[in-house]
Amino acid sequence: MKVVSVVGARPQLVKLAPIAAAFAGTAHEHVIVHTGQHYDANLSDVFFSGLGIPDPDVHLGIGSGSHGVQTGNILAALDPVFAEAAPDWVLVYGDTNSTLAGAVSAVKQHIKVAHLEAGLRSFNRRMPEEHNRILTDHAADLLLAPTEEAMRHLDTEGLARRSVLVGDVMVDVCLNIRDAVQRGEHPAPTLPEGIDPREPYLVATLHRPDNTDDPRRLTALVEALAGLSVPVALLAHPRLVARAEEYGVKLAQGAVHVGQPLPYAGLVSAVMGSVGVVTDSGGLQKEAYLLGRPCTTLRPETEWVETLEGGWNVLVPTPTDLGPRWADVATRPAPEAPRGTPYGDGRAAHRVVEVLAERAG
Ligand code: UD1
Repeated sequence: MKVVSVVGARPQLVKLAPIAAAFAGTAHEHVIVHTGQHYDANLSDVFFSGLGIPDPDVHLGIGSGSHGVQTGNILAALDPVFAEAAPDWVLVYGDTNSTLAGAVSAVKQHIKVAHLEAGLRSFNRRMPEEHNRILTDHAADLLLAPTEEAMRHLDTEGLARRSVLVGDVMVDVCLNIRDAVQRGEHPAPTLPEGIDPREPYLVATLHRPDNTDDPRRLTALVEALAGLSVPVALLAHPRLVARAEEYGVKLAQGAVHVGQPLPYAGLVSAVMGSVGVVTDSGGLQKEAYLLGRPCTTLRPETEWVETLEGGWNVLVPTPTDLGPRWADVATRPAPEAPRGTPYGDGRAAHRVVEVLAERAG
């Protein structure tokens, strides 16, 4: 069997790591295509080296642009790549513009498409990720779902026959790296200046267009973080840095200490050393849950509803609406409620390879 994986943005590289490792122990051929959607070294290259992913076989070098331009350029560039590779499957990951472009190029060439992390829904049609995941699910031949909840969404949309519950590959990679960090196999992460790893601190990230692209909202969110009593390590995504500069919003103020995005092991290690997480990232909500740190999500909804059980994750769309309670929520201690294993057993990637092989013919 020959499988082409299409990746381009940071969260896809994390998901690619366990998939590439699962293919490595088989006779199947696995080709990696990087679209170049993310091109900064600390959003891309460090994930390949840090997670032991083989170098991409093809790099399209697409870069940034409006959604239409970025998606369209990836789509056009993928056509000849898939035509030449003629794989049994094109495997697309998650919900970025690279995911949608990969699915559309493959389906139009009658190449079978499998969608990893299928069935997630925020029901927020303002999110580019929501368009991408719905369109991709409906184009794909095989829907590899991470959770029971995702399976229910696919069923509701008439896609049950194409869906398989495999579990979440992020568990595979997160728990492996956690164990390696505990064994001392990774150096301590480079935390923002002013953060003392021996004292309590929060890890924060902010990059959703709904949060970063409106100057008033961005100002309010940064001020909410700045007013906390616990130091905040803000690992700033390039989109956040670009918008803050454009709008004249100072990120480093009050409790906020600004640093670069971290490589994956650095992030896991930073979360393990923290007292909690404040974020709008889907992946980080789940990593906080898996690592047992309370998470506060700066969004009105989450695709990962299982993290809300027992108060491990709390949704705060607008911190100012909470008044002084905001600080209590963001700095609350870890709940005592036990965490379940809604994301699977850490062997999802092997299951993905098995299901693809079974259905390749
Ligand atoms: C993308 C995904 C999002 C994912 C996120 C993780 C889409 C629609 N969004 O959002 O689902 O959660 O990646 O990071 O696909 N930029 C750089 N360097 C880079 C990449 C981007 O400076 O390496 C800047 C560009 O100026 C660009 C902005 O960041 O305007 C946004 O990049 P883009 O790839 O469009 O989306 P993300 O916000 O990263």
